[in-house]
Amino acid sequence: MAEDVLEELKWAGKLVDEKIKEVLPRGGAEGLYDACWHLIEAGGKRFRPLLAIKSCQVLGGSPDDVLPEAAAVELIHTFTLIHDDIMDEDEERRGVPAVHVKWNVPVAILAGDTLFSKAFEVAAEGGDVRAMEELARACTEICEGQAMDLEFERREDVTEEEFLEMVRKKTAALIRASCVIGGLKAGAEEDQLSALAEYGENLGIAFQIQDDVLDLVGDESKLGKPVGSDIVEGKKTLIVIKGLERADEEQRERILSTLGNEDASEEEVREVIDILDELGAIDYARERAQEYAEAAKEALDRLPENEHRDFLMTLADFVVEREF
Ligand code: IPE
Ligand code: IPE
Ligand code: MG
Ligand code: MG
Ligand code: MG
Repeated sequence: MAEDVLEELKWAGKLVDEKIKEVLPRGGAEGLYDACWHLIEAGGKRFRPLLAIKSCQVLGGSPDDVLPEAAAVELIHTFTLIHDDIMDEDEERRGVPAVHVKWNVPVAILAGDTLFSKAFEVAAEGGDVRAMEELARACTEICEGQAMDLEFERREDVTEEEFLEMVRKKTAALIRASCVIGGLKAGAEEDQLSALAEYGENLGIAFQIQDDVLDLVGDESKLGKPVGSDIVEGKKTLIVIKGLERADEEQRERILSTLGNEDASEEEVREVIDILDELGAIDYARERAQEYAEAAKEALDRLPENEHRDFLMTLADFVVEREF
């Protein structure tokens, strides 16, 4: 399974990177474009473009039919990563220094803005107003979700319901849009679009929960980004919410004194991760991620049965089994 997915990710990556090359210059503008290319060249899974392409193929479209939008989705994703690292004060991404570290915050803001507008430039080539609307709406939702994510850092009473709404916006919105746009470009009917939307949204929630799990128990060299940073930043992940709910007074104290504490030592962070693990909070998150992946698969029942649908099923498993 994993081999299959890796190969397809690589294939989609090649296709969209070619397209991105057409719209994103190299060099010039006082180094701005070097900053734009930095993360694109560093790696990344190209998960969202692959989803757009497969969602198009499942309904009889070809990869070329959705290529401009697939490139747009990856450009938008890259823009959000650059700005996310500024907001999260993370210094490493895709195994290289974050853009704001290699350059500086103003350049990173500009590089993000440039990728954002380039995304719509390339999407316009696709000539589908509804697809562009989906992209624009996803961008707005990402901003709303990221605002919630930041606000939650200062709160200790975030509920699971609030967490899910935040994740639906900051992560699932773009994954869902990738799927819906794939369908749109294949001329999908409304009920097929709603099946793709349901698949993408559930997949996106599972994707972020797994990202949060990996932030605690992942291997930094595979992830290409720092482990434990959500703890230092005070992120209210499902794991932390469940951990706080299950903790006794002493454990709660330990978690809260390290959570959001930039001066916390590696040992203190490790201790909190161990407590969360002992409380079963990490397993709880894994189970929830699994449930969302299953819900994503169920939505696929409403799409035609073919090899592309089988692959979308496999992708749902990949999302919760992945280690990077
Ligand atoms: C990371 O996304 C940001 C989240 C929404 C969790 P990915 O895990 O898709 O990152 P890359 O593109 O592979 O680097
Ligand atoms: C990112 O969530 C969501 C985005 C919209 C970029 P995270 O902050 O958890 O992503 P990573 O872990 O830094 O990639
Ligand atoms: Mg982050
Ligand atoms: Mg973040
Ligand atoms: Mg994360």
